[in-house]
Amino acid sequence: MARPQHAQREVELAGAVPELSEAEVAAWRAEGTPVVELLARAQRLGPVSGIRLGERPVVLVTDPDAVRHVLARHPGRYVKRSHRMRRLLGDGVLTVDGEAWRGQRRLFQPQFTVQGVRRYERAMRDAVGVTAHTWAESARTGQPRDLVADMRRFAIDVIWRATTGLPLDDTTHRQLLAAARIVAAVAALGPSGAPDFDGDLAEVDAAAGRAVAAARAGEGPGILDALLDAVELPDPDGRLVRDNFVTFLVAGYETTAATLSWLLLLLHDHPEHREWALAQGPAGSSGRTAAIRALISETLRLYPAALLLFRDATEDDVLAGRRIEAGATVALCAYLTHRIPGLWPDPERFWPRRFHEPAPRPALGTYYPLGLGPRTCLGAQFTLQEMTLLAETLLPAFDFTLDGERPAPAFDITIHPDGPLPARLRERGGRP
Ligand code: HEM
Repeated sequence: MARPQHAQREVELAGAVPELSEAEVAAWRAEGTPVVELLARAQRLGPVSGIRLGERPVVLVTDPDAVRHVLARHPGRYVKRSHRMRRLLGDGVLTVDGEAWRGQRRLFQPQFTVQGVRRYERAMRDAVGVTAHTWAESARTGQPRDLVADMRRFAIDVIWRATTGLPLDDTTHRQLLAAARIVAAVAALGPSGAPDFDGDLAEVDAAAGRAVAAARAGEGPGILDALLDAVELPDPDGRLVRDNFVTFLVAGYETTAATLSWLLLLLHDHPEHREWALAQGPAGSSGRTAAIRALISETLRLYPAALLLFRDATEDDVLAGRRIEAGATVALCAYLTHRIPGLWPDPERFWPRRFHEPAPRPALGTYYPLGLGPRTCLGAQFTLQEMTLLAETLLPAFDFTLDGERPAPAFDITIHPDGPLPARLRERGGRP
């Protein structure tokens, strides 16, 4: 689309995006520090800044106004194009763009509203029950557990049950974990390369085939129903249904599992916030639920699971007073926005009450762990509900002591604890 003359003139007058020098990138490489350290250095250059890591430069965006501009105000100027996960996710709703995306999003939307996710509540509660049972066993026998592995299993179990109506068996669990290896093989930034993951892809596809068959037979609560029933989106070879199952799995389980792992780690280190949340009302009360939601929101502020959101500029534009050329790749980093001191008082502190009434809601563009604008997380209500149900059950029932060193954050495609969280569990007496 041609821009009006005055807008084109504005682009020509705007300054270039300030870029980290090659020497600074080389110095960072030599240090071997995580990629977020490089991003933080670029952030110091201004609200938008450039980094040249792979073949193409990336424009880093962390300023709230620029975030709003890209994600919410002008999503047509900044689109998803060459998704790095295409080989795994195919043409599911996360990866496609334009009309193909609009059609799928419109279909799925009703199933993912606050009302819509009620149909998965049974599946979620059953998965919560399995985790609680495992923890009770561990508390009884004294056998330690890895909380990261438990949170992964829980998140996969929920998606599996929401699709098939069946509990997660060990073979399926193992097969679906192969998706995590594929995601890990595709680095978040830098040269994309072509890692060989055919074997892992076959594992994922074997499980996906069974999930789709069960969904077609009407055995689950119907997370894929909208697509299975759609006449407007013909899918003769079933590829689209498979792609969306894998999409929900990949978009939904590492992110949810990482968030839950951080939540447990933060509450272990700051137990007073757990006590505060449980004191806001008895089990099942809206007071307690709101406080538990605040624990989750603050966890998502400190560790928004998706490290970077990528967009491609479709036309020349001016962003935060700088010139963005058509074809440029833009990367938004909620982790850095969420820690800007002027936006968030005492940003490094875990302080859930900043999300609890009467605290005001964060301004648009300052907080976006689940994205923003038309491509905001489709599973937002789904994940908030499953995490809340799990926390409402586990937090009043168990104490846990972490063994060994705290894992540092790993900044891959997701931000997750870089290692296991071995813990000893005890049943809690007292408040239910
Ligand atoms: C804590 C957990 C989660 C986090 C932090 C998270 C985060 C995000 C973010 C930031 C986006 C936007 C990406 C972008 O703009 O480029 C997104 C999109 C998406 N998420 Fe989530 N997500 C989570 C859980 C889930 C779950 C459980 C599901 C499915 C059941 C899901 C399905 C999706 C889908 C399908 C999209 C693509 C939407 C579209 O492009 O229209 N997510 N997610």
